[in-house]
Amino acid sequence: MSSSLLAVWVAMTHTRHAVAPATSSSRSAVPTSGALNPQMAAAAEQAARTTPTPFYLTSEAEIAAAAAHLEAAFPDPWVRSYSLKADPLPAIVSLFNDRGWGANCVSLGEINAARHAGMPNAWITLEGIGKGPEEFDAAIAAASTGAPFRWVAIESLDEARALAAAVQKYLTPLSTPLRVLLRLNPSIEPGTHAGLAVGRGSSKFGSDLAEITAAARLIAADGAGIELIGIHLHAGSQLRDLKEWETAVERSLAAYAGLVSEGLITEATHQKHGTLCVGGGEPVALDGSDDPAAQARAFRAAADAAWSGAAGPVPLVRAIEPGRALVATGTYLIARVLHIRERAEVVSGPLALPGALASNCERQVILDAGMGELIRPVLYGARHPVLPISSRDGSTRLSAVHGPICESTDALGAHQLPEGIARGDLLAITGAGAYADAMWSPYNGRPRPARLLLGVSGELSELRVRGLI
Ligand SMILES: Cc1ncc(COP(=O)(O)O)c(C=O)c1O
Repeated sequence: MSSSLLAVWVAMTHTRHAVAPATSSSRSAVPTSGALNPQMAAAAEQAARTTPTPFYLTSEAEIAAAAAHLEAAFPDPWVRSYSLKADPLPAIVSLFNDRGWGANCVSLGEINAARHAGMPNAWITLEGIGKGPEEFDAAIAAASTGAPFRWVAIESLDEARALAAAVQKYLTPLSTPLRVLLRLNPSIEPGTHAGLAVGRGSSKFGSDLAEITAAARLIAADGAGIELIGIHLHAGSQLRDLKEWETAVERSLAAYAGLVSEGLITEATHQKHGTLCVGGGEPVALDGSDDPAAQARAFRAAADAAWSGAAGPVPLVRAIEPGRALVATGTYLIARVLHIRERAEVVSGPLALPGALASNCERQVILDAGMGELIRPVLYGARHPVLPISSRDGSTRLSAVHGPICESTDALGAHQLPEGIARGDLLAITGAGAYADAMWSPYNGRPRPARLLLGVSGELSELRVRGLI
């Protein structure tokens, strides 16, 4: 791993902070999600002595635990790839490389990050709606040297046409075929936030059956060194409706069978490389209410049900490509309090306390971290519990927590925070491992935060230094 070591051993003697119950008004009794675990709290305090806040602090043990749940539910020969879009930091990707996971990439930048993490081409998959000439070139160059990517997933008929043309224009004949999947839009209701429901028929992602068939015919007629091996699916993120997901997998299997029976996936390819990648989307509840092991097993059971109910030829290679479920909970955004303002604020909607329509906050707390480092509350109304690290006393007050950006939407919602919290106190924003640093913005001239890792043996290391602006 390309990390510079701070070589700090973290004391494990911190006591758990007692956090009083969260409320929908300042005095009702909805529990908070608790306190930061003592080892992470100690690591955060230790790191904050030398690293300016905000910074991201990742627990290697928590990432390992999340990966282990999915590995147990989807053991070999399932192909497991980590979706870099959740967090492409090479040091994080290398944790998955070490465990035998591949890399699911959507851009040349992510391909480079995967390579920095030591991923061989054979473990890299390329997909995404934004592939352009650079991504095509990378895939074609890999195939021309005899070390192709595991596959490239094609979004549309137009993209199939463009890829075929790019292969034909390439000067050197490919020494191995460029293996492709076609991405199916399963046309389901994924049961998630509208912004994450990519499996809806009206979304911009994937092709319907007619378009899949047209793209497959184009590839078969082209004969330009592209080999169609199967179907790619990603029904959405934070998927809560497993029945809908099972339907999406069933439709993918039906699409696959149709391609085999039309000869658009050849019998030889079907026998050797036939593939269905079912994507990612396993949800994460940041209040700890999920059982990730049981959830992974439930996804597996739904996939098995679809496979066993399928009529016609089924693909032998089965693949998953989760992002969030692997990394979301293992990273904390460590921030400091900048201001406390005694101003009442009603926080309503998804950023209110869990289960409340609105939360009557007694004061406002402004942090030095917000939408620049974690845009999910603004993008999706995602509520990330904010936990005290250095609590002053046992009593708490319901506080409207805000970020430092000159936008009033830069808010983290209603949280119970220690009564005596003051400027300079440290807090941990939980669930900052997925789609947080990956979506970082320098708006307002703010430098990219440092990345730190608490290793499994308690060692703290710096994965990325704080940036300049
Ligand atoms: C095609 C594809 N695969 C995998 C993922 C990872 O999804 P998640 O982080 O929800 O597991 C995404 C997320 O957008 C995606 O678009």
